[in-house]
Amino acid sequence: MTPNQEDGKRAAGEAALQYVQDGALVGLGTGSTVKYFLLALGEKVKSGFRIQGIPTSQDTARLANELNIPLLPYESNWELDVAVDGADQVDPQFQLIKGGGGALLREKIVAAAARQFIVIVDEAKWVPVLGMPMPVPVEVIPFGWPNAQRQIRALGWPSHLRKKNNAVFKTDEGNVILDVEIDRIEDAGTVEAQLNGIPGVVENGLFVNRTSLVVIGGTQGVQIKKCPTF
Ligand code: A5P
Repeated sequence: MTPNQEDGKRAAGEAALQYVQDGALVGLGTGSTVKYFLLALGEKVKSGFRIQGIPTSQDTARLANELNIPLLPYESNWELDVAVDGADQVDPQFQLIKGGGGALLREKIVAAAARQFIVIVDEAKWVPVLGMPMPVPVEVIPFGWPNAQRQIRALGWPSHLRKKNNAVFKTDEGNVILDVEIDRIEDAGTVEAQLNGIPGVVENGLFVNRTSLVVIGGTQGVQIKKCPTF
């Protein structure tokens, strides 16, 4: 991570605040870019801004609590005004790879529940075509995961079981992640459906037709890209 990249994350996170209105129900993404958004949001809340958030991970819930950002219970029936989240890659069709931090399942649920889904990234995440070196994270239930891996292999893609600190990585939902190596993903919608069609797969990190706006932080300041179909 270069200092420039960190500055880009901060700039994007802070700029996203302009899309959150007083009184809004807000989806709170996960990751190092979202951290800057939460810090800025926490400051607004301190000065009287009233929002309620739905966090996409235990990590985000923890940070939101520290910042006194009010959270809604997961079980309540929420329809969100806006959700703000990071991404690992964004292409010019506004397709994303997400899940580098393992929160893709809750992130996709929250993105789907939001009227506006805003993606915040540093400029290194903007790529012409999705794919390697960033694998597509696929969340799989632990039971029989090697079967899912074999079926993913049959589609032509190698994968590896994600580990962290020498142990198998478990998501907030207690599932495992297969990181699937796909070179060039032009039709992300087809790949998303193929992966989700495998028994045992809960969700994957391709986000298609969901993003309203991308906020890119970089050396030239902040760039806003609006999806023409939203
Ligand atoms: C979490 O699972 C991810 O989807 C993150 O949103 C994504 O990995 C971006 O994270 P950073 O902002 O830390 O790069």
